[in-house]
Amino acid sequence: MDFLKHQITGLEYSDPEIFKKEIEYIFNKTWQYFCQVSELSEAGSYITATLGTEPIIILKASDGKLRAFHNVCPHRGARMLLGSGTCKGIVCPYHSWSFTENGTLNHIPKRQRFGDIDVESLNLRPASVDTWRGLVFASPILDIEPLASRRICSAPAPRRAAGECRG
Ligand code: FES
Repeated sequence: MDFLKHQITGLEYSDPEIFKKEIEYIFNKTWQYFCQVSELSEAGSYITATLGTEPIIILKASDGKLRAFHNVCPHRGARMLLGSGTCKGIVCPYHSWSFTENGTLNHIPKRQRFGDIDVESLNLRPASVDTWRGLVFASPILDIEPLASRRICSAPAPRRAAGECRG
């Protein structure tokens, strides 16, 4: 293989078109490292981050499972949680609609102000979350192959180079 032909130039780091493609084909669609499992140790703990262009929340529910949602209020698109912390359900800071740890809309204060709305369609949009060896990975999309089916090589670098992880 002619490695010089495939050298990365400075352009790959700054070209907006390449960045757009990376967002579209990689960061908005694949598993991305999110945090460590130990950072979400207690029920109600959450962490937010942006994967590609998608703001995501991961929280630990009271059943001990991790749940991931788009950090976008289904009402008017407000960012719901910032940074990290603990919460009992998710409350939008804009009009105070609240959502369960399963992402279900469960309370609209001053409900009559909002007229005729389809409450069933206003749950949080789920995202994908999984863990591997103490690490949490997430993806903005649901239609993604399970993390376990990804070929992750944990062999030390010299053994990887020797082909231990080729399949
Ligand atoms: S924008 Fe979230 S409740 Fe209105």
